[in-house]
Amino acid sequence: MPKIRDASELDGPACAAIYTPYVTDTAITFETEPPTAADMAARIAEVQDTHAWVVLEDEGRVVGYAYATQMKPRAAYRWSCALSVYIEPGRRRTGGGRALYEALFERLAERGFRTAVAGVTLPNEASVGLHTALGFETIGTYRKIGWKLGAWHDVHYWQRPLAVLPDPPEETS
Ligand SMILES: CC(C)(COP(=O)(O)OP(=O)(O)OC[C@H]1O[C@@H](n2cnc3c(N)ncnc32)[C@H](O)[C@@H]1OP(=O)(O)O)[C@@H](O)C(=O)NCCC(=O)NCCS
Repeated sequence: MPKIRDASELDGPACAAIYTPYVTDTAITFETEPPTAADMAARIAEVQDTHAWVVLEDEGRVVGYAYATQMKPRAAYRWSCALSVYIEPGRRRTGGGRALYEALFERLAERGFRTAVAGVTLPNEASVGLHTALGFETIGTYRKIGWKLGAWHDVHYWQRPLAVLPDPPEETS
């Protein structure tokens, strides 16, 4: 039975292995050099400190992950975060993306984050489907905003509330 748990630095190699083909073979991410396992471990540690990183594990093996980072560095943005989610290719459309996002939303809301934002390189039927299914509001599309693998790519943005709480917002924890 697949389960979701909080990631640790030990998940660096598995998360790097899932992410690498999306870096090398697609424009889903605009990163062009795959991070090493050690790079990924460092990212997990940093993200766990401030936001949240969850993994999907099946029979002891990590088969997907999702995390949130700061949306933008300027102070007034600090209650908003940017999401990423990756499932290993053979496991897609089996509920993993939804389960990871739901677990992530819970953790982010607990830490006091108010809004989640996601950028999706178009076309990406699965990611558009996931964000629509999970109640994201469509914001708009940057045209020809990234050059990768010999082509310009559009990126569509989505946002979703994480918690409805009284204002002013308390500092995130
Ligand atoms: C996008 C991604 C994370 C979705 O995760 P997933 O585990 O495949 O999706 P789920 O099975 O949880 O699907 C949840 C809902 O999303 C929608 N969805 C998922 N895949 C879809 C597809 N191929 N076409 C249309 N809708 C889709 C559906 O509404 C689905 O609910 P349903 O199966 O009950 O109809 C996954 O496909 C993936 O890793 N893709 C490659 C990396 C990527 O694009 N990441 C996002 C970057 S923005």
